Amino acid sequence: MPTPESMRALVAGKVGEPNDVLRLESRPVPVPEAGQALIRVTATPIHASDLHVLRGRYGFTPEFPAVGGNMECVGRVEALGPETEGLKIGERVVTMAIPPVPGPPVAGTWQEYLVADTRRLLPVPDDLSDSEACQLAVNPLTALLLVTRVLDVQPGEWLLQTAAGSTVGRLVIQLAKHLGIRTINVVRRRDAVDEIKALGGDEVICTEDEDLLRRVAEIAGRDGVRKAVDCVAGHVGAQVSQSLAPGGELVVYGALSTHRQTDPAALTIPLSARSVIYETKVVRGFWLNRWFGSASPQDALRALSEVRDLVAASVLSIPEGRPFPLDDFSEAITLAETPARGAKPLFVFADSHDEHDG
Ligand SMILES: NC(=O)c1ccc[n+]([C@@H]2O[C@H](COP(=O)([O-])OP(=O)(O)OC[C@H]3O[C@@H](n4cnc5c(N)ncnc54)[C@H](OP(=O)(O)O)[C@@H]3O)[C@@H](O)[C@H]2O)c1
Repeated sequence: MPTPESMRALVAGKVGEPNDVLRLESRPVPVPEAGQALIRVTATPIHASDLHVLRGRYGFTPEFPAVGGNMECVGRVEALGPETEGLKIGERVVTMAIPPVPGPPVAGTWQEYLVADTRRLLPVPDDLSDSEACQLAVNPLTALLLVTRVLDVQPGEWLLQTAAGSTVGRLVIQLAKHLGIRTINVVRRRDAVDEIKALGGDEVICTEDEDLLRRVAEIAGRDGVRKAVDCVAGHVGAQVSQSLAPGGELVVYGALSTHRQTDPAALTIPLSARSVIYETKVVRGFWLNRWFGSASPQDALRALSEVRDLVAASVLSIPEGRPFPLDDFSEAITLAETPARGAKPLFVFADSHDEHDG
């Protein structure tokens, strides 16, 4: 069936609150150049970072107007640019919008078709669902890198993590179980505790009604834990840093508590100078984009392939997303940041051939 000439895209005209600045637009379907493939997108998630980008508060800001969705999607190769090899028409791929290779990033993923450098496309097996495949490149890779590369947590060691019910958090728990690592999982709702335990979390601390520092001391001993990851920041991040053992290390990879805040004081992680200095604690950041910038293309592909294989072997199970058509973008975006929202919203696309032919 011929590729249609136009498609729908969810476009932000300027920086702002996502639901204020996003509009559904009709755009020409892009034409792939040499070394590029045209991908017909089938599913793409709404990550917290996608909304952060639209608010102009992420680690990069695209040129506006910009198609939303900067992280990842799954789709099929619809066409190849001239003299482009290595992929077949119809092959199922995930786009790695984050650059494992130099060159311009992949355009936003919240559109029916996009073109991408073929080196940014990873073939994925058909037995992964669209929901799994479209979330393969960012969160599972982050979980793998944090646990096995950045902190190199050893079997038997404790790893403390916040927002344990997040997709990354759940993947960290599964990976830790697989590797014999013990996890202390921080959640903000009592409702989430049983679920995290059922998933294999060894210990769960609920900040709604428990004292984080006291509970960590009870679990890991008065010295605290040697390794922790945090994606909440603010007061919770500060408490995690206090619960570190002397010489311990905290890796901050997200700042969920700051996302809707405008008061500059709410954008910080207040650290105790005394404890950082005299207990020589380390607090440092992790950002996948920077990791890709420093890893060789071979290392990046190796890590991505490792993640794909762990998911295919069911060692890692990516929580099923909740599908939304693009028309319902406002509802999907509101849901993405609603506390206790459950499944992550994903945009899924009706078969665009049917749509454009019909
Ligand atoms: N640095 C990197 O390279 C990198 C890569 C991947 C992901 N990340 C970051 O990792 C974090 C998690 O992403 P995700 O996609 O896994 O999340 P997700 O699946 O969308 O889940 C969000 C989770 O965070 C919890 N949460 C939200 N705001 C919170 C707050 N203020 N305090 C405590 N908990 C809060 C929610 O708890 P409830 O269930 O109670 O609502 C929910 O469990 C995000 O910050 C994301 O940007 C960073």
